[in-house]
Amino acid sequence: MSQSPDTRHLWMPFTANRQFKAAPRMLVSAAGMYYTSDDDRRILDGTAGLWCVNAGHGHPRIVAAIQQQAAAMGYAPLFQMGHPVAFEAATALADMAPAGLDRVFFCDDGSSAVDTALKIALGYHRARGDAGRIRLIGRERGYHGVGFGGISVGGIAGNRRQFGTGLPATDHLRHPLDIARNAFSRGQPEHGAELADELEQRLLALHDPSTVAAVIVEPMQGSAGVILPPRGYLEKLRAICDRHGILLIFDEVITGFGRLGAAFGADHFGVQPDMIVCAKGLTNGAVPMGAVLLRAGIHDAFMDAAPADSIEFAHGYTYSGHPLAAAAALATLQVYREEKLFERAHDLAPYFETAAHSLKDLPLVKDIRNLGLVCGIELESRPGKVGARAYDVFQRAFHEKGLLLRVTGDIIALSPPLVIERAQIDELFNGISELIKALD
Ligand SMILES: Cc1ncc(COP(=O)(O)O)c(C=O)c1O
Repeated sequence: MSQSPDTRHLWMPFTANRQFKAAPRMLVSAAGMYYTSDDDRRILDGTAGLWCVNAGHGHPRIVAAIQQQAAAMGYAPLFQMGHPVAFEAATALADMAPAGLDRVFFCDDGSSAVDTALKIALGYHRARGDAGRIRLIGRERGYHGVGFGGISVGGIAGNRRQFGTGLPATDHLRHPLDIARNAFSRGQPEHGAELADELEQRLLALHDPSTVAAVIVEPMQGSAGVILPPRGYLEKLRAICDRHGILLIFDEVITGFGRLGAAFGADHFGVQPDMIVCAKGLTNGAVPMGAVLLRAGIHDAFMDAAPADSIEFAHGYTYSGHPLAAAAALATLQVYREEKLFERAHDLAPYFETAAHSLKDLPLVKDIRNLGLVCGIELESRPGKVGARAYDVFQRAFHEKGLLLRVTGDIIALSPPLVIERAQIDELFNGISELIKALD
């Protein structure tokens, strides 16, 4: 048992601080599929940390790469200077990306990568003499991080209401969650592709397509509770954007790096966006890093519009391409490839799906949604207390069952490391099943 730290000084992110500090849940180490808590219990990681640790915790090759880089050069700027590992990481990422998305801009995390992609979209149209394209369209219940750009195109009301108006000239598609028609779908739901038509019929009709720079969506909405695109929906978005010269951005911070059983959601769904935002699994969560992948044509528009000795894109972060992050990314991408972890996720997905849907007939279970190694279990809410039931499951899972889950509202979301074993999948769902049965 390690000594408990003083918890007063740290204002914790996205946390009910007073509730947490009254009964802290502390993690002190991690290896493979397990965390260890401060009271020396093994905690099975059902969430890959926060959807990041796809190769499992403490992978020795990733650890070694970070250690070696820290010893060789802990920091160097990427403004008007270079270091080889940043270029090597960009090349490795471009090699893994869907064909054609082979230019890379490095950022600090998912939020900064989202804001970067939105700025690239605006700057791209301006560089081509189309500066009237200033509008950005997101989606209800979309999560695009916490920057002002991200919350403006994002659609989680609770993440917006404390912060004023956000960016002007944004609008939102409806989200495609339709439990009435699609409850307990396995994989992509059948109904709802027509919701993509409202991009053209409602939003573009209202705003005029020539004012719209980009549409940004998560191919699968993660943070708001695992909302899957109905069959044909993403294809329609792509076609509408093409018809009107609008860039389509996929925010793949969660769906990137094997979560759905392919390198990216774009590969899984067979729909090619103009840009992909990624983070989290890029470094296996070991060092913060985000990235935007984009078509060469978008990159080249900036190069063509600016004199050869000028800065083409007035944007970047002190830590863009940070040497430790780049070394971690390089090692992580090699691990994914050599250990065939995306194929592993693909092969395990049917087992995971069957285990998830075995909870279907439990009391209070309203819907189960799954794809690849992601699953959302939605519970009926306690009258007047949305989120209370899922929180009960979450905290009892941690204290009594040694399971780390994630909850949002009354949805339990699971996204284990891709190295999970079948017996651990059973342990996860059996534990959740017992806790749901015990709910009032
Ligand atoms: C789809 C999506 N975009 C952006 C982000 C923000 O990433 P970060 O928390 O690294 O800023 C997240 C985080 O969960 C996410 O799920």
